[in-house]
Amino acid sequence: MSERPIAALVLAAGKGTRMKSDLPKGLHKVGGLSMVQLVTDALLAAGVTDVAIVVGHGGELVQAELGDRFGYAWQHEQLGTGHAVQCAEPILNHFQGDIIVTAGDTPLVTEQMFADLIAAHRSTGAACTVATSIQEDPTGYGRILRETNGTVGAIVEQKDATPEQLAIQEVNAAIYVFRSEGFFDRVNRIGNDNKQQEYYFTDIIHILREDGLRVDAYVCPDADVLVGINDRWQLQDADRRLRARTLEGLARSGVTIVDPNNTYVSPGVKIGRDTTIEPNTYLYGSTVIGERCSIGPNVRLVDTKVGSDVLILFTNAQECEIGDECKVGPFANIRPKSRLEVDVNIGNFVEVNRSVLHDGVKARHLAYIGDAEVGAETNIGAGTITCNYDGFFKHKTSIGANAFIGSNSTLIAPVNIGDRAIVTAGSVITDAVADDAGAFARARQITREGWAKAWRSRKAAEKENSKKGNP
Ligand code: UD1
Ligand code: MG
Repeated sequence: MSERPIAALVLAAGKGTRMKSDLPKGLHKVGGLSMVQLVTDALLAAGVTDVAIVVGHGGELVQAELGDRFGYAWQHEQLGTGHAVQCAEPILNHFQGDIIVTAGDTPLVTEQMFADLIAAHRSTGAACTVATSIQEDPTGYGRILRETNGTVGAIVEQKDATPEQLAIQEVNAAIYVFRSEGFFDRVNRIGNDNKQQEYYFTDIIHILREDGLRVDAYVCPDADVLVGINDRWQLQDADRRLRARTLEGLARSGVTIVDPNNTYVSPGVKIGRDTTIEPNTYLYGSTVIGERCSIGPNVRLVDTKVGSDVLILFTNAQECEIGDECKVGPFANIRPKSRLEVDVNIGNFVEVNRSVLHDGVKARHLAYIGDAEVGAETNIGAGTITCNYDGFFKHKTSIGANAFIGSNSTLIAPVNIGDRAIVTAGSVITDAVADDAGAFARARQITREGWAKAWRSRKAAEKENSKKGNP
């Protein structure tokens, strides 16, 4: 059997009234990623490349989040899920093959679920296959009404269900696959003749059956995968479940997770074997960590690449690279476009911003290194500041290899300091320092013998006088 092309339509136009939020529902995050992105990621991973999104409420924000790899259809008024699919007709009506219709508020959905749903649909030749699950608490979901022959007869929404129907635990996931033949003709027959005056997409089941077509169900064995999120309590619950799934995958691949209840890792983050993640650690975005590292406690890494044998604690780092054998923290802040090469040592209260630190650089205490390049094995003393900003423009500081920058030095950029140069403590450096040079840019010390003693006796006498009432 030749593979039929497959397209997907993600419904993400709804207001998400129950979220009580200004943000469109699909942009609320689960596991550090927006719900609608989790759905599209699962579709793409399952090999569905032709994906369109229905946007409406906050649609510009949803488009900005997902980018231009998808087609978009606009639903200007949110009249229901049936109306949302009607709005996609202009962009999908010429498509021939199978069409997945899926909600954008099912963040735990997996690649495997979509693959199994498609396989089930193709094996039976039904006109529609509905993804369903058996929920312990089915409240809020549409219930699946089965025919005696096992096919799906109808989906009844919670609000319209009889008490007997409310007891049904098999629920609609709002994820379906359809054969494209006649699909939009039937979608356009969906009306709003119900209590809510809403266009229910679930009415499509009745319409297909009126036309004598068969509707099957694919029952997902893991009910968690198909939970729908309508309010913020369900959101945190999904977050917890996705986190557990991600951490379990990492742990089973050889990562030690000390406390899964206090470790927050986005799906897609990669961590090597024998790395330990200590509590209160947040690893987000495209972060990749090598082997045998110790990360945490209290570390937040966003879109950061970490090598192997790295130690990071009490640190924030974003969009940067931290090479093999580096030691970072406690209390370091590594900001975007920074690269720490091999065995770099960044200690407490050190901020690195848009800078490259070559192998073996040490800045162990209280420094700001911004717009700088620092050569291999150079030591940056406590209190060193690169003054990269003049109030209007940013300037570069370049420091050679094996140099020594004394404590409390102020390096006024743009400035170059050569290889093996020594900047003495407390210097304010405004001019270039050549290779092998020493720079002294501070006032000379004056020491006066006996001065402190004389000063104390003079002050003591003044105080004695004032007590006697003499002004
Ligand atoms: C829907 C299903 C219900 C199912 C449940 C699964 C309908 C009528 N009901 O209910 O059977 O059990 O999902 O989670 O379909 N949307 C639009 N435009 C609209 C309205 C909604 O794009 O006008 C989008 C929403 O953004 C959301 C999805 O459609 O991503 C589902 O809408 P929602 O209001 O959450 O439906 P549920 O009440 O959860
Ligand atoms: Mg929903």
